[in-house]
Amino acid sequence: MKQLLKTLTETFGPSGHEGEVRKIILKEVKPLADEIRVDALGSLIVRKKPARGSKNPRRIMLAAHMDEIGIIASHIDKKGFVRFTNVGGTFGRYTLGARIRFMNGVTGVIGYDLPEHVENVPPINKMYIDVGATKKEDCPVKVGDFAAFERSYMEMGDRLVAKSMDDRTGVAVLIETLRSIKSTPNDLYFVFTTQEEVGVRGAGAAAYGIDPEIGLAVDVTATGDTPASMKVMTELGKGPCVKFRDPGMLSDPRVVDWMISTAEKARIPYQREVLLIGSTDAREIQISRAGVMAGALSIPCRYVHSASEMVDYRDLKNSVKLLTALLSKVVSF
Ligand code: CO
Ligand code: ZN
Repeated sequence: MKQLLKTLTETFGPSGHEGEVRKIILKEVKPLADEIRVDALGSLIVRKKPARGSKNPRRIMLAAHMDEIGIIASHIDKKGFVRFTNVGGTFGRYTLGARIRFMNGVTGVIGYDLPEHVENVPPINKMYIDVGATKKEDCPVKVGDFAAFERSYMEMGDRLVAKSMDDRTGVAVLIETLRSIKSTPNDLYFVFTTQEEVGVRGAGAAAYGIDPEIGLAVDVTATGDTPASMKVMTELGKGPCVKFRDPGMLSDPRVVDWMISTAEKARIPYQREVLLIGSTDAREIQISRAGVMAGALSIPCRYVHSASEMVDYRDLKNSVKLLTALLSKVVSF
């Protein structure tokens, strides 16, 4: 899974431009799928049908988003410096000094207008991208060009660091889960969604098309295990998290019970998650059509939305184990 994660995180894919990521996933899932389609918003929908003779198979949608946060060029000045705005949750404190890459391969570094108080982090509208141009006419970037962080994948023992761990870890976990499920009594839809970072847009459209009974997002969650971090109980390396609440969703208690009882029976470590900021694809799945029983399995992640997001490999492996256990058996609610 590490090699796959390296490939996925080193691939370019800001919201609305997930094509490169989709290509990699497609190659992995082709031999494992019963049906594959791409919907109008670009989500990749991979179906694994129930084993022959299964009674009342449940339609279950799993979702992991392919897109990552990014930036978009909004203005180019006389000297060829590129001003930009955010695509999703791109924050000043994580953007300053970053290297970025545009879709056409142009790279740049992010500089800033000196603030009055140098200790203050400037917001992104006080930053610019230096792509090495000296005047507007030579700037290889046009207004509307998308870019994302440029950063290579790195391993520190079990701790893995890369850009776009949010949510390529979810993507890798879903691919590995599909690989590990030998047979299922359920009708499974593994959905690799688009445009999550700009307001969970792809997942809603995909859920409408699939009309699932149960929906589960697989995405990262913040941790409370660093100095002066948020007051949450989730930690790296302590297992996948069962989501109870985030600001966009209350998990269905039946889904929460299903996840916890399965983890306990299979002796897989898990954590109880209440997230204070952010949400996931499950938010849109839950309120699609007449409503869906929804929840989320979250992967603990430090420094979310920076170019160096950190996860623990053991959490990824245990996430695959838990999902495999959940999806391989008859759902009893
Ligand atoms: Co995110
Ligand atoms: Zn995410």
